[in-house]
Amino acid sequence: MQTDFLVIGSGIAGLTYALKIAQDRPDKTVTILTKTQSDETNTKYAQGGIAGVMDFDKDSFNKHIEDTLIAGDGLCDKHIVEIVVKEGVDRIKEIIDWGARFDKEPTGDFKLGKEGGHSESRILHHKDVTGKEMERALLETIKMKPNIQLISHCFVLDIITQHHLGYLITKSTPDIECYGVYVLNLASNKIEKILSGITLLATGGNGQVYRTTTNPSIATGDGVAMVYRAKGRIENMEFIQFHPTALYEPGVRGQSFLITEAVRGDGGILRSDSGEAFMERYDKRKDLAPRDIVARAIDNEMKVAGTENVFLDCRHFSKEKFIEHFPNIYEKCLSIGVDITRQMIPVAPAAHYSCGGIKTDEWGRTSIKNLFAAGECASTGLHGANRLASNSLLEAMVFAHRAYEKSVELIDASEASFSGGGLVGAIPDWKADGTNVPKEMILITQSVKELKLLMSDYVGIVRNNERLHRAMKRLDLLYAETEALYQKTIVSPQLCELRNMITVAYLIVKCAEFRQESRGLHFNTDYPNKSSMVQNIVL
Ligand code: FAD
Ligand code: SIN
Repeated sequence: MQTDFLVIGSGIAGLTYALKIAQDRPDKTVTILTKTQSDETNTKYAQGGIAGVMDFDKDSFNKHIEDTLIAGDGLCDKHIVEIVVKEGVDRIKEIIDWGARFDKEPTGDFKLGKEGGHSESRILHHKDVTGKEMERALLETIKMKPNIQLISHCFVLDIITQHHLGYLITKSTPDIECYGVYVLNLASNKIEKILSGITLLATGGNGQVYRTTTNPSIATGDGVAMVYRAKGRIENMEFIQFHPTALYEPGVRGQSFLITEAVRGDGGILRSDSGEAFMERYDKRKDLAPRDIVARAIDNEMKVAGTENVFLDCRHFSKEKFIEHFPNIYEKCLSIGVDITRQMIPVAPAAHYSCGGIKTDEWGRTSIKNLFAAGECASTGLHGANRLASNSLLEAMVFAHRAYEKSVELIDASEASFSGGGLVGAIPDWKADGTNVPKEMILITQSVKELKLLMSDYVGIVRNNERLHRAMKRLDLLYAETEALYQKTIVSPQLCELRNMITVAYLIVKCAEFRQESRGLHFNTDYPNKSSMVQNIVL
């Protein structure tokens, strides 16, 4: 199969990019691949909303820029922050034109929410299901574009580069080029190659590397792992953001339900087991301090008290107001026997967002030619050491747009075509010789469990050198066992995801070891202070 533009991922970044290309270039083909159902994405679960300066009487670009820089703790790229904040407003208007509905006041103005680290109310939202609404609007608009083909249940295995033509590729090889991808088509159970002029990776986050996460099961860091295997550049993987308030449900494994930060924005108060509003002791912004500070405070409270959760108190809210803004959370809490008007919500931090990822420039270009990245899998320079709440949907749309602009330019300049300089005819089919159906799935599922445990226990909110060292030693073993299994087993999504998660975990630990300081989301008790050298860790 051949396509002009190949998009991997059907979340906000992939769909925005595909739509823009299809609208601008009806003469070109756009193919979107997604590994499960088309709407099963991190995007669908976004609750709080999308940050954007809408009320210029109270708010300003400078305030949003300043808030983003403060949250990022010295590591944001200011130029990129300015781009995202300023261009973001036009991207929000576009998605509204595509049919996304955000809550409004009776006056017709947007209802703007507030979250941690924001000095003003600037979060547009659709009740507490903003991502679901945005995903719906995008998927419906995509259907109206005849030049877009969306293929679900199609698992991308690897990026095709000169390596597949037999060339030796290393990190220092200049002009590594992407010609397309190998995919496992789950409908036919066959491995196919798809050649493309331009490829965009929009594969989302990697929260599944941890035992407790707000991310759905698709979030296994596949894009980052593929780029690393293809010898592309990855950066700042140590900055894993833990959301302070995931619903604590003992015994629930996999994805944790989120209690949006907007609840604290509307007045929710964190309390310890003894009922103390403890955030006052940690930061003058109390419950609305940036996420790294709140998550660390909760972690400390839980450790001191020997408990597995703290509480979010909403008992003082008007029931009608709460249900109006947070109907989904109200229902979910009731379903587990928590009536928020009478009981406090049990919450605990959970892995939520990857601030680092595939290194890109200001146009979303990766270090590999004709390969772009946008959304959570990318590291653009916006988030620095800690992402400001509700900035990621914004970043995804801004960089999808920028990647679209540059991609069209490249296609028009004939710098990208699936002829690959005449070489692509030589790209071999996937080799599955000597591999067999796995005899025991337990070999895969047990390793996934071990991986999640070791990452949660050794590479969580608070780290130290010994824990990182232990994590690396255990990862080495898991890596060796999994590679051996991979060599002799017919590929499956489960095995590939395990392999990708081990790579991502390795990158998180490696970057954490290199960062010999505490900054933003990375807190190492052996280096409790910030270093005077402000730098990104690039692998
Ligand atoms: P995703 O939406 O995650 O999409 C990834 C896509 O890649 C999927 O279609 C998946 O199938 C596909 N994919 C992955 N690997 C492969 C593969 N190997 N082969 C084929 N396809 C593949 N951010 C905000 O700004 N505001 C919020 O209010 C907010 N709330 C959040 C609440 C929750 C519970 C979560 C989990 C996140 C939240 N975030 C929020 C973060 C934000 O939702 C995500 O960062 C953003 O949606 C990521 O979009 P994306 O397009 O990069 O990736
Ligand atoms: C939330 O609603 O609390 C999540 C917002 C985000 O991750 O940006």
